[in-house]
Amino acid sequence: QDSLLRIRDLTKDEIMGILKDAQLFGVSHKDWQLPQRKLVANLFFEPSTRTHYSFASAEHQLGCMVENFSAQGSSVEKGESLYDTVRTFESIGYEALVIRHPKDEYFRELENIRIPIINAGDGAGNHPTQCLLDLLTIYQEFGTFEHIRMAIIGDISHSRVAASNKEAMELLGGECVFSGPAQWQREGYPHMDVDAAIEWADVVMMLRIQHERHATSMQMSKADYLQQYGLTKERAARMKSHAIILHPAPVNRNVEIDSDLVEAPNSRIFKQMSNGVLVRKAVIKRAFGAEFEGGQ
Ligand code: CP
Repeated sequence: QDSLLRIRDLTKDEIMGILKDAQLFGVSHKDWQLPQRKLVANLFFEPSTRTHYSFASAEHQLGCMVENFSAQGSSVEKGESLYDTVRTFESIGYEALVIRHPKDEYFRELENIRIPIINAGDGAGNHPTQCLLDLLTIYQEFGTFEHIRMAIIGDISHSRVAASNKEAMELLGGECVFSGPAQWQREGYPHMDVDAAIEWADVVMMLRIQHERHATSMQMSKADYLQQYGLTKERAARMKSHAIILHPAPVNRNVEIDSDLVEAPNSRIFKQMSNGVLVRKAVIKRAFGAEFEGGQ
């Protein structure tokens, strides 16, 4: 039984194995289910639409019994800790937990927990399943990660998506650069001017401004942000002809990206969301150590 906490805990072969399973779930193994029904809970201590409900969809498709926990109305409101909450779920029979929490690397508190934990996002730390669905989308497009150039643009310092994608692309032989306002640059993350990055990249990933993680509110108007750092139609016209647009979403239309580009022919933003279900099915299969028939 395998938890999934951070991309850096996976080998290249493990990443490629998850992507291979995800692809099979999209083609020949659409109806495959776990050999035993498993009891799974989704514990989201931060808002989520895509991650929460694509995990729920994946779990239902795999034949799991699914419970969706809300901190509101639970004993978290009486001061119960994350550890005691999770230990309770383990004690009452849950067999795997999907957890999103605002604290960076919250899972360090959970080392005594014996059931698999799947990290659905920890603060500004890691978002491994988002990264895996991004990787699947890139792989479907280019058939390789070797020498693929990825530009990640926006609020880099608060982005767990940027962090996980940097780790993955470096491991898999791709290249990553980062653009955006100077105050959101991150040490060790190679910076490139936004116009240069958009022309250089095979994959242009735009990020939402993570207002909920900012100590002070942003002074710049939305229109100014779009002009200075966003993907405008003028910038998109200078992308390579084969290059694609990604965004983890939720998208703030006309802030980090012109609304008309969200569903442009070279956008894969909604494809990423569909791929999220496939990748999460593969991660849950892995968590329970299940095999496809014939040991694939
Ligand atoms: N990409 C992502 O994590 O979206 P949600 O916050 O809606 O889950």
